[in-house]
Amino acid sequence: MATFDVIVLGGGPAGYVAAIRSAQLGLSTAVVEKEKLGGVCVNIGCIPTKALLHSARVANLVAHEAKALGVEVGGVKTDYGVAMKRSRQVSEQNARGVEFLMKKNKITVIKGLGTILAGKKVKVGAETYTATKAVVIATGSRVKGIPQIGLEINKTTVISSDEALFLDKAPASIAIVGAGAVGSEFADVFSAFGSKVTLIEALPRIVPLEDRECSEALTKAFKKRGIAVWAGAKVLKATVGAAEVRLELEVGGKTETVTAEKVLMAAGRAVNTENMGFKEAGIELTDRGFVKVNPATLETTAKGVYCIGDVAGPPMLAHKGSREGVFVAELIAGKQPHPIKYDNVPSVTYCHPEVASIGLTEDQCKERKLEYQVGRFPFSANGRARASNETDGFVKIIRDTKYGEILGAHIVAGHASEMIHELAVARENEYTVEEVDLAIHAHPTLSEAIAEACLDSMGRVIHT
Ligand code: NAI
Repeated sequence: MATFDVIVLGGGPAGYVAAIRSAQLGLSTAVVEKEKLGGVCVNIGCIPTKALLHSARVANLVAHEAKALGVEVGGVKTDYGVAMKRSRQVSEQNARGVEFLMKKNKITVIKGLGTILAGKKVKVGAETYTATKAVVIATGSRVKGIPQIGLEINKTTVISSDEALFLDKAPASIAIVGAGAVGSEFADVFSAFGSKVTLIEALPRIVPLEDRECSEALTKAFKKRGIAVWAGAKVLKATVGAAEVRLELEVGGKTETVTAEKVLMAAGRAVNTENMGFKEAGIELTDRGFVKVNPATLETTAKGVYCIGDVAGPPMLAHKGSREGVFVAELIAGKQPHPIKYDNVPSVTYCHPEVASIGLTEDQCKERKLEYQVGRFPFSANGRARASNETDGFVKIIRDTKYGEILGAHIVAGHASEMIHELAVARENEYTVEEVDLAIHAHPTLSEAIAEACLDSMGRVIHT
């Protein structure tokens, strides 16, 4: 019976990072993975969708913007199949990268479905492995349909991102149910590849967790590109035919019908907690179905069993899972890890323009009755954005009136995902809005808009 210090169940961005940090700290480590290393993120999530979004951006640039920039390319033809194949190559390259990292760190990879047994044991096939120090659950999440209204994923007409990532061609029309990150990103991709896209969101606005102004800006950008946006629209019933799906929606008290060749379900994910012996091993779940953990240690209700990533609770984001992986590895190794600040996890939707944020939205500041000042700076007033023809969007900073703390930061921009980290570093280190501006920002850059929004929150903006 093989023995390791640490056995990690699941090789996604939470699990494999936990394994690497454990190995770095001198612990003998194994990762159990039933599919490919890298998990959803690398294989059927973050990475291949970013490759497709890049193709989409190039398609839109060439079709709609290049001519004005002095580059004429004639008739533009797009081919989703080619973009899809490239996205697979990017994904496979990343998955091989994770395999390499396992070897480099001398981590044993055990292929198969792991089941947890009491006493920090993990069974894979006929073998049982023992962890002397800890078992780490990082089993992730999966797509889900809404069977109650007839939207069960059938992989042909009603699909999820799992299937959308492997289509040979873009459907003529697609209705996307759910306008969170997944729905908004695929709306962008399929519209660039010529599909007639209808984006449906039950809550009153798309990207509903983001600041209201970000939702408005994205709605405007999507509509400009011909995407039909139905917000505040609840799908009541779906009729799934062989070649078409009909959706009945309730919008503002009225019933509307949307028909499409395919429906993409992007209405949230379910966590993987079944058939792995959790209950028998004393691992309890929360009312919402996540694994119950002690928030200070991420230890489950079974001693010596920790849980990280999507299955441990929201936000279901790769970077949150990876950080939890580092945290538990350090804790298991007897160190005192830096506590995780869950209110300082950046969130990004990578459609064009991108939406990135950290901290509180303005509505949340109001609900909490905080005293705040808002600073805004539009990219239409930023020299670099004008030069790059990317003037959609803005930076919005919410500043605590008394102490100048950055309560929230919201960016809609072509490169918002890269810009948000300045604010993440600032918030992590409790810099004030004044201090962010005091750092000299290179000119001309999009990041100058951050400094300007900071100034605007104090009534001192220079360029508007
Ligand atoms: P989500 O929970 O972020 O968004 C789902 C949306 O569907 C919600 O806005 C919800 O109101 C809406 N919805 C639910 N039922 C509906 C119905 N019957 N009709 C219309 N709308 C309905 O889930 P999503 O986008 O599927 O993503 C799953 C998880 O993966 C999230 O935690 C997300 O943050 C994460 N993710 C993150 C990405 C990123 O960081 N860029 C990319 C993809 C996923």
